[in-house]
Amino acid sequence: MRPLASSVLDQLFHSARTPNAFLDQPVSDEELVRIWELLRWAPTSANCSPLRVVYAKTPSAKAALLKCVDPGNAKKVQSAPVTAILGMDMRFHDKLAQLFPHTDAKAWFEGNDGKIGDTAFRNSSLQGAYFMLAARSIGLDCGPMSGFDHKAVLAVLLPAGFVLALLGRSGDAYSADLPADPRAAGTLEPLVPGAGRTLELRGDGAAWIARVDADRVALSQARGVARPDLHAYWSGQLVVDELPADARLLGAVSRAERTFALPALQGTLVLFSLAHGEIVAHGSLAEAR
Ligand SMILES: Cc1cc2nc3c(=O)[nH]c(=O)nc-3n(C[C@H](O)[C@H](O)[C@H](O)COP(=O)(O)O)c2cc1C
Repeated sequence: MRPLASSVLDQLFHSARTPNAFLDQPVSDEELVRIWELLRWAPTSANCSPLRVVYAKTPSAKAALLKCVDPGNAKKVQSAPVTAILGMDMRFHDKLAQLFPHTDAKAWFEGNDGKIGDTAFRNSSLQGAYFMLAARSIGLDCGPMSGFDHKAVLAVLLPAGFVLALLGRSGDAYSADLPADPRAAGTLEPLVPGAGRTLELRGDGAAWIARVDADRVALSQARGVARPDLHAYWSGQLVVDELPADARLLGAVSRAERTFALPALQGTLVLFSLAHGEIVAHGSLAEAR
């Protein structure tokens, strides 16, 4: 697998927002089918695929749906050309002989309502997330919504609906009124073992500090002194006294502070002076606290 282009990542994650209103532009049935054709390949346990989707498109379906949503959500539903009702099939296991033929997987669930409920909710929620990403990947905006009367939707449209996904195109004009995304301020630290730790590198007494965050390391020098001759390396070895054979160049430490992508959360960071051919400072990532 190869990394996707950053423009693709922007469309799926960084720039994608939950719109409050949609442009008056139709969403075609082909697009709706395409979303399903993409999401159904993404994994669920034993391929159980419990998600079921009903698209509310017609004026009468929208009118029925509007009676079920929280008052604060009505305007958004009104504005969306299509609302997808994401629900789960509590008899998903009937299809396991076809979807997971290697074994009698249906028998795992038969008569076990707790396991059926957990499995259906977990996997259809995952498929709900796949749904949003699939919609974004074909150029549609998607607004998830759980503020509605689930039982009322059940009665009108679908068994066990748990989330609505508003689909349409919002365009820049409609996303411009959204408040700044609080996640952009870095309020959420990724939950990665070893993230957010600090390590003081041993060496020339110049107190190089490494802040290890998820898959990055920020190197800074307490006295703010730039060393143009210094290069940062990562090695998988735990102890080093010379530049190890497996040392991987992270980059030049041309400024007093630099951030590099980290190949792994294990191993050793090494600051090496090309001018003097020697290690200036190093520290084992295992010692970061
Ligand atoms: C499961 C789920 C339920 C949500 N329910 C509502 C809702 O009832 N009403 C609403 O306005 N937004 C709802 N949202 C939207 C979120 O608040 C929004 O996606 C989140 O704040 C991120 O906003 P952004 O995509 O613009 O960055 C829901 C989102 C999810 C994932």
